[in-house]
Amino acid sequence: MLNNFTLEKIDINAPIPEEETKRQFYFMAKAKKHVEALAEKLGHVPTCCVTTFGCQMNARDSEKLVGILENVGYEIIDSEKADFVIFNTCTVRDNANQRVYGRLGELNGYKRRNPHMKIALCGCMMQEPAVIEKIKKSYGFVDLIFGTHNIFKFAELLCASFETEGMLIDIWKDTDKIVEDLPVERKYSFKSGINIMFGCNNFCSYCIVPYVRGRERSREPKDIIREIETLVADGVVEIMLLGQNVNSYGKNLEEPVTFAQLLREVEKIEGLQRIRFMTSHPKDLSDELIQVMKESKKICRHLHLPLQSGSTEILTRMNRRYTKEQYVDLAMKIRREIPDIAITTDIIVGFPGETSEDLEETIDVVKTVKFDNAFTFIYSKRTGTPAAAMENQVPEEQVKEGFDRLLKVVQETAREQVAKYQGKVMDALIEEVNDSDNTKVTGRLSNNTVVHVPGDASMIGKIVPVSLDECHGFYYIGHVVE
Ligand code: SAH
Ligand code: SF4
Ligand code: F3S
Repeated sequence: MLNNFTLEKIDINAPIPEEETKRQFYFMAKAKKHVEALAEKLGHVPTCCVTTFGCQMNARDSEKLVGILENVGYEIIDSEKADFVIFNTCTVRDNANQRVYGRLGELNGYKRRNPHMKIALCGCMMQEPAVIEKIKKSYGFVDLIFGTHNIFKFAELLCASFETEGMLIDIWKDTDKIVEDLPVERKYSFKSGINIMFGCNNFCSYCIVPYVRGRERSREPKDIIREIETLVADGVVEIMLLGQNVNSYGKNLEEPVTFAQLLREVEKIEGLQRIRFMTSHPKDLSDELIQVMKESKKICRHLHLPLQSGSTEILTRMNRRYTKEQYVDLAMKIRREIPDIAITTDIIVGFPGETSEDLEETIDVVKTVKFDNAFTFIYSKRTGTPAAAMENQVPEEQVKEGFDRLLKVVQETAREQVAKYQGKVMDALIEEVNDSDNTKVTGRLSNNTVVHVPGDASMIGKIVPVSLDECHGFYYIGHVVE
């Protein structure tokens, strides 16, 4: 990993390097000078806060931003009353957007009191032209805006923003670039997400992700393995391989590789103890993957397999490319092959044209598959997606009623599933000290269930056997077994 020492050695008066990683290090060295000058002006080390909205991809992107920010000399803090605030945004549903606008209003107040304050926006929302227009019009106090495709250029953009007055906007429509080896600062010392691919080619008709994250691109297996090895050497015991559809990983590489093959390679990494991945699209989930999971000692007993709807007709119009029966057969096959696996899912209620019969089909799948957990979402119309132009958008009342009905069933089955482990002893990775009771720590089982046990911060990052004593709905209270 890079440290300040190597940045010091970069000559910022030399020509700008062409190779992208080197180029960004050059700009980090330059940004460092700007931050030093700012520190002098402020009389303290400038502080920075990165707020993340949305999914694990964004969380990982934020770690990349923080990696650069720390290297150029910012002090990272949790409070948005900082000298530099970055919102890494999400636009998957409208409420994600609204939250960003709300919080931006607050930032304006802080900036009035701190004229040196810098505000940057990045992430998926910024890939929507209408959003940029709105920010230009109503949020003129924002200093820097960039998108998902050029996040690797953050050091360069940061420099540019120090050197320009007013709002700086740099948004790319798409990219085929993958820039390796930039600094990353992990949120957790013992676990890490790892991008194995970027973008999505599936174009589910309700979803904006392919428009804001671009076409699917896989990283080379050797780059992924090298990154994981470095992480493990740095104390990471659990990794989560990230992609919008990990099951189609590697198809477009010069030398195609399947996701299952990649997993086999990752499994071999010594010192790595747990492997997770997100997300699996049911249409591409292979028997080879089930086999690899079944044989693996490290892949966690958890599969997130978004259903979206249990009605074949709705699924067809969602462009999911599987039927209700295919989904159920797949889930049941996985349960048969790997009996201790937890299957979780995502479900959308209120897709255009959804009737209460369609919802019954979804409820039927929930009851059959017995999801260990399910995230239920109210359909949100995303401008530019095919579903937004569909007729018969479902009235709010009906959606709300259906949502509540589904939620009840989902919670019942999840409770039933989680309760199955009562009294058992299972391994938990201890992740943090409990927020509300500091005599307890919180751990996670391989199947993703949470357990609280008596303990202290020294246990964080360790995998320990715990007895699952009391089931409290979705989590356990237990104790460590010596
Ligand atoms: N690539 C992942 C999901 C990414 S988005 C996958 O295919 O599984 C996460 C979840 O948000 C989706 O699974 C879906 O349930 C939900 N979602 C996406 N677009 C939505 C929309 N327009 N309205 C409501 N929920 C949506
Ligand atoms: Fe969206 Fe579908 Fe791609 Fe998932 S697979 S990101 S739901 S388009
Ligand atoms: Fe949101 Fe972008 Fe993730 S839209 S869900 S942050 S890929």
